Amino acid sequence: MKKLNSGYEMPVLGLGTWTLTGQTCEDAVYAALKSGYRLIDTAKYYGNEKEVGSAIARAIKDGICTREEIFVTTKLVPWSRSPNADIDDSLQKLGLSYIDLVLLHQHGSDSGDDAVYLAMIRAAKDGKIRSIGISNFYPEKNVSHFINDFEIPPAVIQNENHLKYQNNSLRDWAAKKGIYIESYYPFGGRGHTAEHLKNPQVLEIAKKHNKTAAQIIVRWHLQAGYIAIPGSRNLSHIAENFDVWDFQLTDSEMKELTKLNTGKRYENW
Ligand SMILES: NC(=O)c1ccc[n+]([C@@H]2O[C@H](COP(=O)([O-])OP(=O)(O)OC[C@H]3O[C@@H](n4cnc5c(N)ncnc54)[C@H](OP(=O)(O)O)[C@@H]3O)[C@@H](O)[C@H]2O)c1
Repeated sequence: MKKLNSGYEMPVLGLGTWTLTGQTCEDAVYAALKSGYRLIDTAKYYGNEKEVGSAIARAIKDGICTREEIFVTTKLVPWSRSPNADIDDSLQKLGLSYIDLVLLHQHGSDSGDDAVYLAMIRAAKDGKIRSIGISNFYPEKNVSHFINDFEIPPAVIQNENHLKYQNNSLRDWAAKKGIYIESYYPFGGRGHTAEHLKNPQVLEIAKKHNKTAAQIIVRWHLQAGYIAIPGSRNLSHIAENFDVWDFQLTDSEMKELTKLNTGKRYENW
């Protein structure tokens, strides 16, 4: 768990739900909660908040977890003309009385970003949201705007972050301000996972620990101080990605993996 600058705690490993829809999404989220996950990442843009909400309701009904034990993140698009109504819509679709974390999904226009951020602050004050954050913000000066010019700073920055593109300097800068980096595309994202999961150094370390490449990469994120949300629709992958609590990478393994950084992102949004 990480204690956020909002005062709330956030689990460090969760399930990402980008591209998951319908019953596949509901089954994946339910399976994740059953495997022990307590952090679920969705977004208005993914069009699956209703399915995420159904899975959560089913898990609570089946006694797998309580509402208070889980941490649900959603995101608002920066081009929204009605961010207040969007928050109410997310609450309704998710079937929740509060959302743990809402993120500005990405940079849009300066005025659009500010309008969404202000709506999130208002909702936090109204108790609809517990923590607020931003996503897809890399330069420190762009993050500084949200720290300096608003009443509530971001608690989390969710960015593309993986072995090939590491946010390490942003992480160190943000940590001094009590802000955590959450890794999206922890395995590189669809179309790039082989570059990560079949990387020879990752495979060699996996062999030494008798773990899978995915588990080694999850450990790298956690030990590097990141929050990670690997995405999967495959129920055995979902369980595998959470089975990472019984081993640790050594300092030299961490250093070796950190050297894989190329400084190049896959996405440019
Ligand atoms: N804020 C943003 O702009 C933004 C952007 C992108 C993503 N995100 C969030 O970040 C989450 C993670 O990113 P992502 O899902 O796009 O990419 P990812 O987690 O890097 O990779 C997902 C891919 O890895 C595969 N995979 C997962 N576990 C595996 C395992 N143990 N062994 C082999 N393959 C495995 C999945 O296939 P299977 O389904 O077959 O397991 C899927 O193809 C998203 O789901 C979303 O919630 C946020």
